[in-house]
Amino acid sequence: MVIVFGSVNLDLSVPVPHAPRAGETVLGGALLVDGGGKGANQAHAARRYGARVMLAGAVGEDALGAPALANLERAGVGLDALRRIAGTATGSALITLDAHGENRIVVAPGANAAACADSVTDDDLARARVLLLQLEVPFEQSRRLARRARAQDCRVMLNAAPVLPGWRPELADIDVVIVNRIELHQLADSLGVAPGAPATRARALARAHGCEVLLTLGAHGAMLAAPDASVCSMNGHALPVVDTTGAGDTFAGVFAAAVAEGQNRAGALRAANAAAALSCGARGAQAAQPQRAAVEHFLRAGADQPKEIP
Ligand code: RIB
Repeated sequence: MVIVFGSVNLDLSVPVPHAPRAGETVLGGALLVDGGGKGANQAHAARRYGARVMLAGAVGEDALGAPALANLERAGVGLDALRRIAGTATGSALITLDAHGENRIVVAPGANAAACADSVTDDDLARARVLLLQLEVPFEQSRRLARRARAQDCRVMLNAAPVLPGWRPELADIDVVIVNRIELHQLADSLGVAPGAPATRARALARAHGCEVLLTLGAHGAMLAAPDASVCSMNGHALPVVDTTGAGDTFAGVFAAAVAEGQNRAGALRAANAAAALSCGARGAQAAQPQRAAVEHFLRAGADQPKEIP
């Protein structure tokens, strides 16, 4: 089982010809309303890949709660550890999507601020192979849960996104840190890792902090650096991009699911990389996440054009 402790949002996404400047109003295209939030997206991706998944976090008792949870319920993500907080709004995200499929996101956290580590019992942790965390719920709660998970021999993965000003990285109970290039540099800067190329810094971070560092590189693939200096890297996929929203979440969720079922690093990276690439081919975060069969079909067909990692 994979336990995800993280955020649940309702995403409102609009394609725009360009991002509005201060004081400007831009007329966009059709609104897409989709389940979102990094925690929910990762739980949904892991479930679509076939894992048993439990999501812990919080939503409000308001009109946004039900649509924010609809995909998760349909997919069969366990929601018993999700709190409903009276008098608080469900988290929401306002997203603009440019012509290249790149997004700009503003999140109103709402009930996510009330996510609590106590929602997950030690029995839950003992039954889980992986605990997956991000940074859209209070980090102190995630840290407490990580420590308890370690005590139950559950592997702890942290997708360090988004890195907020003032966040004090604490990697003591983390087995795998998942970051994109920007997050890697933010994390490495705050931990005093010497400046350098992303791959060099990922290796240095892994060595200095005794955890694996999984660096996602979008269309250029991904690399995983281990504390023993070994590296596993995967080429990217050149597929048409419609919407990159939540691609990193798809990657993290599928990687966690693959590790939880016992796949080795290379297998898990390969599956996550393909799922993330496929998820960019349609609009939305959860709506665009592929089922496992689609990931395996894509990998079997070899329909991708691999790119070298720079
Ligand atoms: O990573 C994408 C997600 O970030 C969106 O679904 C949005 O809700 C924000 O949490």
